[in-house]
Amino acid sequence: MNFKEKYQERTKEIEGILAKYLPKPEGYQKIIMEAMEYSLMAGGKRLRPMLMGESFRMFGGEGEIIEPFMAAIEMIHTYSLVHDDLPAMDNDEYRRGRKTTHVVYGEDMGILAGDALLNYAFETACCAFDMEPENSLRIGQAMKILGRKAGVYGMVGGQVVDVKEAGHQVSGEMLDFIYRLKTGALLEASVMIGAVLAGASEEETAKMESVAGKIGLAFQIQDDILDVTSTTEVLGKPVHSDEKNEKTTYVTWKGLEKAREDVPRMTEEAIQELEGLGRECAFFKEILNWLVYRDK
Ligand code: IPE
Ligand code: IPE
Ligand code: MG
Ligand code: MG
Ligand code: MG
Repeated sequence: MNFKEKYQERTKEIEGILAKYLPKPEGYQKIIMEAMEYSLMAGGKRLRPMLMGESFRMFGGEGEIIEPFMAAIEMIHTYSLVHDDLPAMDNDEYRRGRKTTHVVYGEDMGILAGDALLNYAFETACCAFDMEPENSLRIGQAMKILGRKAGVYGMVGGQVVDVKEAGHQVSGEMLDFIYRLKTGALLEASVMIGAVLAGASEEETAKMESVAGKIGLAFQIQDDILDVTSTTEVLGKPVHSDEKNEKTTYVTWKGLEKAREDVPRMTEEAIQELEGLGRECAFFKEILNWLVYRDK
Protein backbone atom coordinates (compact mmCIF):
# COMPACT_ATOMS: atom_id res chain seq x y z
CA MET A 1 0.00 0.00 0.00
CA ASN A 2 1.48 3.38 -0.94
CA PHE A 3 1.29 6.49 1.25
CA LYS A 4 -1.82 7.97 -0.39
CA GLU A 5 -3.74 4.69 -0.05
CA LYS A 6 -2.75 4.28 3.55
CA TYR A 7 -3.69 7.88 4.35
CA GLN A 8 -7.06 7.37 2.67
CA GLU A 9 -7.68 4.17 4.55
CA ARG A 10 -6.90 5.88 7.86
CA THR A 11 -9.11 8.83 6.90
CA LYS A 12 -12.00 6.44 6.31
CA GLU A 13 -11.45 4.85 9.71
CA ILE A 14 -11.42 8.28 11.35
CA GLU A 15 -14.61 9.31 9.57
CA GLY A 16 -16.24 6.10 10.77
CA ILE A 17 -15.30 7.03 14.34
CA LEU A 18 -16.64 10.58 13.88
CA ALA A 19 -19.93 9.28 12.51
CA LYS A 20 -20.23 6.86 15.43
CA TYR A 21 -19.86 9.59 18.05
CA LEU A 22 -21.93 12.34 16.41
CA PRO A 23 -25.30 12.93 18.07
CA LYS A 24 -28.34 11.73 16.11
CA PRO A 25 -30.42 14.67 14.81
CA GLU A 26 -33.56 14.60 16.96
CA GLY A 27 -35.70 16.73 19.24
CA TYR A 28 -36.71 20.38 18.91
CA GLN A 29 -33.00 21.24 18.69
CA LYS A 30 -32.47 18.86 15.74
CA ILE A 31 -31.11 21.67 13.55
CA ILE A 32 -27.99 22.00 15.65
CA MET A 33 -27.14 18.32 15.29
CA GLU A 34 -27.55 18.75 11.54
CA ALA A 35 -25.26 21.78 11.51
CA MET A 36 -22.66 19.84 13.56
CA GLU A 37 -22.77 17.01 11.06
CA TYR A 38 -22.65 19.43 8.11
CA SER A 39 -19.38 20.97 9.27
CA LEU A 40 -17.76 17.87 10.74
CA MET A 41 -18.48 15.43 7.92
CA ALA A 42 -17.55 17.83 5.11
CA GLY A 43 -14.10 16.30 4.69
CA GLY A 44 -10.78 17.85 5.51
CA LYS A 45 -7.44 16.23 6.05
CA ARG A 46 -8.26 14.76 9.47
CA LEU A 47 -4.68 15.53 10.40
CA ARG A 48 -5.13 15.93 14.14
CA PRO A 49 -6.84 12.58 14.81
CA MET A 50 -4.42 10.99 12.35
CA LEU A 51 -1.37 12.23 14.28
CA MET A 52 -3.02 11.34 17.58
CA GLY A 53 -3.48 7.76 16.39
CA GLU A 54 0.13 7.60 15.16
CA SER A 55 1.49 8.91 18.43
CA PHE A 56 -0.63 6.37 20.34
CA ARG A 57 0.72 3.53 18.19
CA MET A 58 4.26 4.84 18.44
CA PHE A 59 4.22 4.42 22.21
CA GLY A 60 2.66 0.98 22.05
CA GLY A 61 -0.96 2.00 22.64
CA GLU A 62 -3.62 -0.62 21.90
CA GLY A 63 -7.38 -0.83 21.93
CA GLU A 64 -10.17 1.66 21.31
CA ILE A 65 -9.62 4.11 24.13
CA ILE A 66 -7.98 6.55 21.72
CA GLU A 67 -11.10 6.75 19.54
CA PRO A 68 -13.26 9.12 21.61
CA PHE A 69 -10.25 11.45 21.86
CA MET A 70 -9.67 11.28 18.11
CA ALA A 71 -13.29 12.32 17.60
CA ALA A 72 -13.01 15.02 20.26
CA ILE A 73 -9.95 16.72 18.77
CA GLU A 74 -11.54 16.82 15.31
CA MET A 75 -14.73 18.29 16.81
CA ILE A 76 -12.72 21.02 18.53
CA HIS A 77 -10.72 21.71 15.37
CA THR A 78 -13.93 21.87 13.32
CA TYR A 79 -15.56 24.24 15.82
CA SER A 80 -12.50 26.48 15.55
CA LEU A 81 -13.00 26.59 11.77
CA VAL A 82 -16.74 27.28 12.01
CA HIS A 83 -16.07 30.24 14.30
CA ASP A 84 -12.97 31.34 12.34
CA ASP A 85 -15.18 31.74 9.25
CA LEU A 86 -17.89 33.83 10.98
CA PRO A 87 -18.51 37.37 9.70
CA ALA A 88 -17.05 38.81 12.93
CA MET A 89 -13.82 36.87 12.39
CA ASP A 90 -12.38 36.00 8.95
CA ASN A 91 -15.74 36.30 7.21
CA ASP A 92 -15.27 33.48 4.72
CA GLU A 93 -17.96 31.71 2.74
CA TYR A 94 -16.34 28.41 1.80
CA ARG A 95 -14.84 25.67 3.91
CA ARG A 96 -13.91 22.13 3.00
CA GLY A 97 -15.43 22.65 -0.43
CA ARG A 98 -18.83 23.71 0.87
CA LYS A 99 -20.60 26.89 1.88
CA THR A 100 -19.62 27.68 5.44
CA THR A 101 -21.90 26.60 8.26
CA HIS A 102 -23.14 30.13 9.03
CA VAL A 103 -23.97 30.73 5.37
CA VAL A 104 -26.15 27.61 5.24
CA TYR A 105 -27.65 27.66 8.74
CA GLY A 106 -27.49 31.36 9.60
CA GLU A 107 -25.07 33.20 11.85
CA ASP A 108 -26.95 32.31 15.04
CA MET A 109 -26.79 28.59 14.29
CA GLY A 110 -23.18 28.94 13.14
CA ILE A 111 -22.23 30.29 16.55
CA LEU A 112 -24.26 27.63 18.33
CA ALA A 113 -22.91 24.82 16.14
CA GLY A 114 -19.40 25.83 17.19
CA ASP A 115 -20.41 25.92 20.86
CA ALA A 116 -22.12 22.56 20.46
CA LEU A 117 -19.09 20.91 18.84
CA LEU A 118 -16.79 22.22 21.56
CA ASN A 119 -18.96 20.96 24.37
CA TYR A 120 -19.75 17.69 22.66
CA ALA A 121 -16.03 17.07 22.23
CA PHE A 122 -15.66 16.87 26.01
CA GLU A 123 -18.76 14.72 26.38
CA THR A 124 -17.28 12.40 23.76
CA ALA A 125 -13.82 12.24 25.34
CA CYS A 126 -15.48 11.27 28.64
CA CYS A 127 -16.65 8.00 27.01
CA ALA A 128 -13.07 6.80 27.53
CA PHE A 129 -13.73 6.58 31.29
CA ASP A 130 -16.47 3.99 30.68
CA MET A 131 -14.31 2.07 28.22
CA GLU A 132 -11.27 1.70 30.49
CA PRO A 133 -12.06 2.82 34.03
CA GLU A 134 -8.79 1.24 35.17
CA ASN A 135 -6.95 3.89 33.13
CA SER A 136 -8.87 6.84 34.59
CA LEU A 137 -5.72 8.66 35.64
CA ARG A 138 -4.31 8.71 32.11
CA ILE A 139 -7.69 9.68 30.72
CA GLY A 140 -7.90 12.54 33.20
CA GLN A 141 -4.46 13.75 32.13
CA ALA A 142 -5.54 13.60 28.49
CA MET A 143 -8.69 15.64 29.29
CA LYS A 144 -6.54 18.25 31.01
CA ILE A 145 -4.31 18.58 27.93
CA LEU A 146 -7.36 18.84 25.67
CA GLY A 147 -8.86 21.62 27.78
CA ARG A 148 -5.71 23.64 28.13
CA LYS A 149 -4.54 23.44 24.51
CA ALA A 150 -7.96 24.41 23.18
CA GLY A 151 -8.41 27.38 25.50
CA VAL A 152 -6.93 30.76 26.39
CA TYR A 153 -3.42 29.27 26.73
CA GLY A 154 -3.90 27.48 23.42
CA MET A 155 -6.01 27.82 20.27
CA VAL A 156 -8.47 30.44 21.58
CA GLY A 157 -5.59 32.56 22.88
CA GLY A 158 -3.94 32.49 19.46
CA GLN A 159 -7.15 33.35 17.65
CA VAL A 160 -7.67 36.31 20.01
CA VAL A 161 -4.34 37.87 19.08
CA ASP A 162 -4.78 36.98 15.39
CA VAL A 163 -8.10 38.81 15.23
CA LYS A 164 -7.09 41.68 17.52
CA GLU A 165 -3.99 42.46 15.49
CA ALA A 166 -5.70 42.33 12.07
CA GLY A 167 -4.90 45.57 10.24
CA HIS A 168 -1.80 46.19 12.37
CA GLN A 169 1.84 45.46 11.75
CA VAL A 170 2.77 42.46 13.87
CA SER A 171 6.33 41.70 15.05
CA GLY A 172 8.00 38.39 14.24
CA GLU A 173 7.85 37.47 17.90
CA MET A 174 4.12 38.08 18.10
CA LEU A 175 3.49 36.22 14.85
CA ASP A 176 5.35 33.25 16.28
CA PHE A 177 3.14 33.46 19.40
CA ILE A 178 -0.02 33.53 17.28
CA TYR A 179 1.01 30.50 15.21
CA ARG A 180 2.16 28.47 18.19
CA LEU A 181 -1.21 28.97 19.82
CA LYS A 182 -3.82 29.19 17.09
CA THR A 183 -2.40 26.28 15.07
CA GLY A 184 0.35 24.61 17.10
CA ALA A 185 -1.63 24.02 20.28
CA LEU A 186 -4.21 21.58 18.84
CA LEU A 187 -1.44 19.65 17.07
CA GLU A 188 0.49 19.52 20.33
CA ALA A 189 -2.62 18.28 22.12
CA SER A 190 -3.10 15.58 19.48
CA VAL A 191 0.29 13.94 19.84
CA MET A 192 0.50 14.49 23.61
CA ILE A 193 -2.86 12.80 24.17
CA GLY A 194 -1.80 9.86 21.98
CA ALA A 195 1.38 9.53 24.02
CA VAL A 196 -0.28 9.89 27.43
CA LEU A 197 -3.01 7.35 26.67
CA ALA A 198 -0.38 4.88 25.50
CA GLY A 199 1.50 5.28 28.77
CA ALA A 200 4.47 7.35 27.54
CA SER A 201 6.65 9.02 30.18
CA GLU A 202 6.41 12.73 30.98
CA GLU A 203 9.70 13.29 29.21
CA GLU A 204 8.53 11.53 26.06
CA THR A 205 5.26 13.45 26.10
CA ALA A 206 7.16 16.75 26.39
CA LYS A 207 9.34 15.77 23.43
CA MET A 208 6.23 15.03 21.37
CA GLU A 209 4.87 18.44 22.33
CA SER A 210 8.02 20.05 21.01
CA VAL A 211 7.86 18.04 17.76
CA ALA A 212 4.24 19.13 17.21
CA GLY A 213 5.10 22.77 17.97
CA LYS A 214 7.53 22.73 15.04
CA ILE A 215 5.00 20.92 12.83
CA GLY A 216 2.43 23.57 13.75
CA LEU A 217 4.65 26.43 12.61
CA ALA A 218 5.49 24.73 9.32
CA PHE A 219 1.82 23.84 8.84
CA GLN A 220 0.57 27.41 9.34
CA ILE A 221 3.28 28.85 7.09
CA GLN A 222 2.22 26.43 4.34
CA ASP A 223 -1.41 27.49 4.96
CA ASP A 224 -0.34 31.12 4.46
CA ILE A 225 1.51 30.20 1.27
CA LEU A 226 -1.52 28.38 -0.13
CA ASP A 227 -3.69 31.41 0.70
CA VAL A 228 -1.72 33.39 -1.90
CA THR A 229 -0.73 30.69 -4.40
CA SER A 230 -3.64 28.25 -4.64
CA THR A 231 -7.20 28.42 -5.93
CA THR A 232 -10.54 28.17 -4.11
CA GLU A 233 -11.38 25.04 -6.14
CA VAL A 234 -8.28 23.19 -4.95
CA LEU A 235 -8.24 24.53 -1.38
CA GLY A 236 -11.96 24.22 -0.74
CA LYS A 237 -11.80 27.60 1.03
CA PRO A 238 -11.30 31.14 -0.26
CA VAL A 239 -7.83 32.29 -1.31
CA HIS A 240 -6.58 35.79 -0.37
CA SER A 241 -8.52 35.65 2.88
CA ASP A 242 -5.47 36.97 4.76
CA GLU A 243 -5.05 39.97 2.47
CA LYS A 244 -8.77 40.75 2.70
CA ASN A 245 -8.51 40.81 6.49
CA GLU A 246 -5.18 42.66 6.51
CA LYS A 247 -3.41 39.91 8.40
CA THR A 248 0.30 39.88 8.91
CA THR A 249 1.35 36.40 7.83
CA TYR A 250 4.67 34.64 7.47
CA VAL A 251 4.41 35.40 3.75
CA THR A 252 3.88 39.16 4.19
CA TRP A 253 6.61 39.20 6.85
CA LYS A 254 9.35 37.14 5.20
CA GLY A 255 8.23 36.90 1.59
CA LEU A 256 7.06 33.89 -0.38
CA GLU A 257 10.54 32.68 -1.25
CA LYS A 258 11.74 32.52 2.36
CA ALA A 259 8.45 31.03 3.53
CA ARG A 260 8.84 28.26 0.95
CA GLU A 261 12.32 27.50 2.23
CA ASP A 262 11.33 27.49 5.86
CA VAL A 263 8.52 24.90 5.63
CA PRO A 264 10.82 21.98 4.66
CA ARG A 265 13.54 23.21 7.02
CA MET A 266 11.22 23.33 10.04
CA THR A 267 9.67 19.99 9.07
CA GLU A 268 13.11 18.41 8.88
CA GLU A 269 13.86 19.70 12.38
CA ALA A 270 10.63 18.14 13.62
CA ILE A 271 11.50 14.82 11.95
CA GLN A 272 14.98 14.77 13.51
CA GLU A 273 13.45 15.31 16.92
CA LEU A 274 10.82 12.64 16.28
CA GLU A 275 13.49 10.13 15.28
CA GLY A 276 15.40 11.01 18.45
CA LEU A 277 12.67 9.28 20.42
CA GLY A 278 13.89 5.97 19.02
CA ARG A 279 10.44 4.58 18.21
CA GLU A 280 8.96 3.22 15.00
CA CYS A 281 7.57 6.29 13.21
CA ALA A 282 7.80 5.60 9.47
CA PHE A 283 4.21 6.56 8.62
CA PHE A 284 4.34 9.58 10.95
CA LYS A 285 7.36 10.84 9.01
CA GLU A 286 5.65 10.20 5.70
CA ILE A 287 2.72 12.34 6.83
CA LEU A 288 5.04 15.20 7.77
CA ASN A 289 6.89 15.03 4.46
CA TRP A 290 3.58 15.02 2.61
CA LEU A 291 2.36 18.10 4.51
CA VAL A 292 5.30 20.15 3.21
CA TYR A 293 4.12 19.78 -0.36
CA ARG A 294 0.40 19.53 0.27
CA ASP A 295 -1.83 21.54 -2.04
CA LYS A 296 -4.75 22.00 0.37
C1 IPE B 1 -7.06 24.79 8.77
O1 IPE B 1 -6.72 23.52 9.24
C2 IPE B 1 -6.80 25.80 9.85
C3 IPE B 1 -5.40 25.94 10.20
C4 IPE B 1 -4.96 25.70 11.38
C5 IPE B 1 -4.44 26.38 9.19
P1 IPE B 1 -6.62 22.29 8.24
O2 IPE B 1 -5.82 22.70 7.04
O3 IPE B 1 -6.13 21.10 8.97
O4 IPE B 1 -8.13 22.10 7.79
P2 IPE B 1 -8.92 20.79 7.38
O5 IPE B 1 -9.22 20.07 8.64
O6 IPE B 1 -8.03 19.97 6.46
O7 IPE B 1 -10.15 21.28 6.70
C1 IPE C 1 -6.94 29.53 11.54
O1 IPE C 1 -5.99 30.21 10.79
C2 IPE C 1 -6.51 28.81 12.68
C3 IPE C 1 -7.65 28.32 13.49
C4 IPE C 1 -7.50 28.11 14.75
C5 IPE C 1 -8.97 28.06 12.90
P1 IPE C 1 -6.57 30.66 9.39
O2 IPE C 1 -7.64 31.68 9.56
O3 IPE C 1 -5.44 31.00 8.50
O4 IPE C 1 -7.23 29.29 8.87
P2 IPE C 1 -7.99 29.16 7.47
O5 IPE C 1 -7.00 29.56 6.40
O6 IPE C 1 -9.21 30.01 7.54
O7 IPE C 1 -8.28 27.68 7.41
MG1 MG D 1 -8.29 33.00 11.02
MG1 MG E 1 -9.52 31.81 8.40
MG1 MG F 1 -5.27 30.53 6.44
